[in-house]
Amino acid sequence: VAPWLVVPAAGQGRRMGADRPKQYLAIDGRPVLAHTLARLHAAFPAARLCLCLDPEDARFDPAWVPFAEWRRVPGGAERVDSVASALAAIAGEAGDDDLVLVHDVARPCVTVADLVRLHAVLADDPVGGLLAAPVADTMKRDDGAGRVATTEPRAGLWHALTPQGFRYGLLRRALTAAREAGVAVTDEASAVEALGRFPRLVSGRRDNLKITHPEDLALAGQILAAQRQ
Ligand code: C5P
Repeated sequence: VAPWLVVPAAGQGRRMGADRPKQYLAIDGRPVLAHTLARLHAAFPAARLCLCLDPEDARFDPAWVPFAEWRRVPGGAERVDSVASALAAIAGEAGDDDLVLVHDVARPCVTVADLVRLHAVLADDPVGGLLAAPVADTMKRDDGAGRVATTEPRAGLWHALTPQGFRYGLLRRALTAAREAGVAVTDEASAVEALGRFPRLVSGRRDNLKITHPEDLALAGQILAAQRQ
């Protein structure tokens, strides 16, 4: 069964310092958003997509959406609000046990192989999980004044990537609880963890980069070119 897809794309991408949100910056003449949706479509051609966009967004062009069944939903102030808005929009259509994959628009380099593997692993998982990559660098915590306070053991530490996939009912409960508690959650998994559940870590490629800083755009272009070879 094809999963539901939620793509939060309502951020402003201020850390990029660009003249437009990062999903509209071009790689090889096409916006990041179009690259990301093309990868998702290649893996899940029959999926139903919810695309979260800023209601004021005038740059979006529906020609970039390759899915037959999709809808635009209004994003919110934070990522979690945008994803919650998408889940609210499909209430009544999505069953509690339907799998929902949430993928950052800013991650165009996710591979079809990782997408398909994540979906297969989560197919019969009662909780859900996420693509993740083991931390390679030694991790330091700062003292707030530019010096090292502690070195964190890196064994067992992972980068949380996307997609993150959970059953519709569980994800909706988790995000509602996180928003009511006012806790800052930067991914779906942490909201699910707060309910006492343990998402599965599915090892994914480290080049599933989230375009965040100015140097990331060229890097993403190089990763996409290398993956095509
Ligand atoms: O800013 P950051 O890179 O953490 O955003 C992650 C993803 O969440 C991006 O795809 C961004 O467009 C999305 N987002 C959103 N609504 C917000 C903030 C971020 O859909 N209010």
